[in-house]
Amino acid sequence: MSTALITGASRGLGVVAARRLAAQGWTVLAGCREPSSFVVPEGLDIRPVALDVTDDASVEAAVKEVEDAVGGIDVLVNNAAMVGGTVTPADTGVEDLREAYETNVFGPVRVTRAFLPLLRRAERPRLVMVSSSLGSLTEMTTGRWGNHPHLAYPSTKAALNMISVGYAQSLPDVLVTVVNPGYTATDLNDHQGTQTVEEGTDAIVAAALDTAGPSGRFLDRHGAVAW
Ligand SMILES: NC(=O)c1ccc[n+]([C@@H]2O[C@H](COP(=O)([O-])OP(=O)(O)OC[C@H]3O[C@@H](n4cnc5c(N)ncnc54)[C@H](OP(=O)(O)O)[C@@H]3O)[C@@H](O)[C@H]2O)c1
Repeated sequence: MSTALITGASRGLGVVAARRLAAQGWTVLAGCREPSSFVVPEGLDIRPVALDVTDDASVEAAVKEVEDAVGGIDVLVNNAAMVGGTVTPADTGVEDLREAYETNVFGPVRVTRAFLPLLRRAERPRLVMVSSSLGSLTEMTTGRWGNHPHLAYPSTKAALNMISVGYAQSLPDVLVTVVNPGYTATDLNDHQGTQTVEEGTDAIVAAALDTAGPSGRFLDRHGAVAW
């Protein structure tokens, strides 16, 4: 049976994706900043692991814990993210961007490099990058979302998309999928999202389960997303 590590699995899309994969018999390592608060649903093999994606020591300790517990992983889901600075573009300073970049861009890079050796022990390693249509230059310049009022979040997801393209092109042994969950009611948007969390996890779960590829796609629950 397969094993996945999901970052940001304490709540929102991460915890539901963990439950859905575990319900299929998977072992899921649920990366959380506060693992002691994680309530493991009965009958599911979900194991909370302390993991702050912005902290080298935390990530290194998580690698050791996961290796000791399960040896390797089949799927790494880089899901943890935050909204970050919400001032207008004209008023945005570097400090308004820094926290979102630390979490949404440098976090997945830190976690991916650290966990690649464990991922590469799988027969078919899969890397799932949880992005957003707000990171799509096409979507953002063709009016679908209007003029987004902030720089931080969309630009981190655009950066994550390009980093993911780089992984897809340079890691021939790893199936890389970028997913857009779609606008989903979670804490991230004060539950204003129009999809259920179940719907929001469809693309994440599908990417985790898929072993055929091809690598380097940007997908939502309906199909391809424009970059
Ligand atoms: N909801 C949407 O409409 C939507 C749409 C498109 C894309 N997405 C993407 O989907 C993913 C999940 O979003 P969500 O809606 O589930 O958000 P959420 O409910 O706000 O959950 C965010 C998760 O990220 C974790 N996290 C934040 N900073 C972290 C850090 N430094 N280290 C480890 N974990 C950290 C949080 O942990 P704590 O509990 O410790 O804070 C929480 O588990 C994100 O990548 C988001 O950008 C969401």
